[in-house]
Amino acid sequence: MSTVATHTDRSATRPDTPVVAPPGLAGVVVATTSLGDVRGAEGFFHYRQYDAVDLARSCSIEEVWHLLLRGHLPTTGELAAFRATIAEAQVLAPDVRAQLDAVAVAALAPPMTSLRTSLSALGGALRLEPVWDLSPAQRERDALRVAVQVPVVTAAAYRRGQGLDPVAPRADLGYAANHLWMLTGAEPREHHVRALERYLCLTVDHGFNASTFTARVVASTGADVAACVVAALGALSGPLHGGAPSRALDSLDEIGTPELARPWADAQLAESRRIMGFGHAIYRAKDPRSELLRETAEELGGPLAELAVAAESAIDDALDAARPDRTLRANVEFYAGVVMHECGVPREMFTPTFAVSRVLGWTAHILEQALDRKIIRPSARYAGPPPPQPVPALGDRG
Ligand SMILES: CC(C)(COP(=O)(O)OP(=O)(O)OC[C@H]1O[C@@H](n2cnc3c(N)ncnc32)[C@H](O)[C@@H]1OP(=O)(O)O)[C@@H](O)C(=O)NCCC(=O)NCCS
Repeated sequence: MSTVATHTDRSATRPDTPVVAPPGLAGVVVATTSLGDVRGAEGFFHYRQYDAVDLARSCSIEEVWHLLLRGHLPTTGELAAFRATIAEAQVLAPDVRAQLDAVAVAALAPPMTSLRTSLSALGGALRLEPVWDLSPAQRERDALRVAVQVPVVTAAAYRRGQGLDPVAPRADLGYAANHLWMLTGAEPREHHVRALERYLCLTVDHGFNASTFTARVVASTGADVAACVVAALGALSGPLHGGAPSRALDSLDEIGTPELARPWADAQLAESRRIMGFGHAIYRAKDPRSELLRETAEELGGPLAELAVAAESAIDDALDAARPDRTLRANVEFYAGVVMHECGVPREMFTPTFAVSRVLGWTAHILEQALDRKIIRPSARYAGPPPPQPVPALGDRG
């Protein structure tokens, strides 16, 4: 549908009520935000008033986080104070840490499942209160306390799964460096930190995607910050959202060498298979995230980056030949896997690493939504048997 009407009559959900929103709510504007937006036709996205790619090129993840959370880029003094606040929030009281560890050990599961279980436990252990009952300052405190634990919890779960002891965060390391440190237990190398930081900056926020919308729906009910984030994590875990960033890397493994990229792509398309890491629901030409990540992968260098660059060009040609009606180009996932792999992030930690960045966007959205004291409560058109019908007695139900 090209136009979307709004029902003011809340009883208007009879079978003859037209569905007034397009499938998937595509293109429907459901909220007002000051956090950012995506302009698909232009291949452009922004956080507040700044081009997100410019921010990723020149700012640390803490600066971008501050921008989203507090509305402006920090001064030198504000940045130092913000870093100190983050480091302080990463340290949990011993009893809270013990509760969290107990749950994490009991719930050893695939990384995203383990993460959401642990964060749910964190909300309980911290005794978080509904955002409805809190002041904006208290909500921000809770948002920070929950967000900073995402890399801590997910790295600990990964290491336990490998039979290794968790590694505690260090106050002298930034958010990106700490993520690598806690995953690997090795001193993070500067160029890896910078590359990962770019990836994190590029994926903090991206319009009203499914997980962000989910976080805002739960925040609109007044629930606590952990409940909002756990719901968003569930949305992110699905393969249509954040659940498949490793698939593009699997494709590169299959391709193996640059000269096999074109025949591989032709074969995929001949069998009507989708090429992972290409195409986008909103970007119609280039995905600006993939452009900077390609540059980052090339800076990191190595055979995988070389293969990816050669394969991208061959796949572009194959897609152009097979789909002359479309411009299907590399999306964020194509180079994200290459960059994360080169930085030492294990493949099963790609989606949790996406959560490490996106939780910063979610929590900013949760705080913004909490200012609007209106519950998000749309309607559905009922299409079952016409009610009311007599309730049959137990013995008459055949
Ligand atoms: C991202 C994606 C789901 C967007 O889907 P969409 O909004 O329906 O995409 P579009 O409207 O631009 O294109 C739809 C058409 O192009 C084709 N197409 C889109 N991406 C394609 C790809 N990566 N490989 C092959 N064909 C593709 C579709 O098969 C479809 O063909 P049809 O019209 O004959 O049914 C889709 O491009 C895709 O599946 N990409 C691969 C998975 C991926 O990389 N996901 C991560 C996204 S960040």
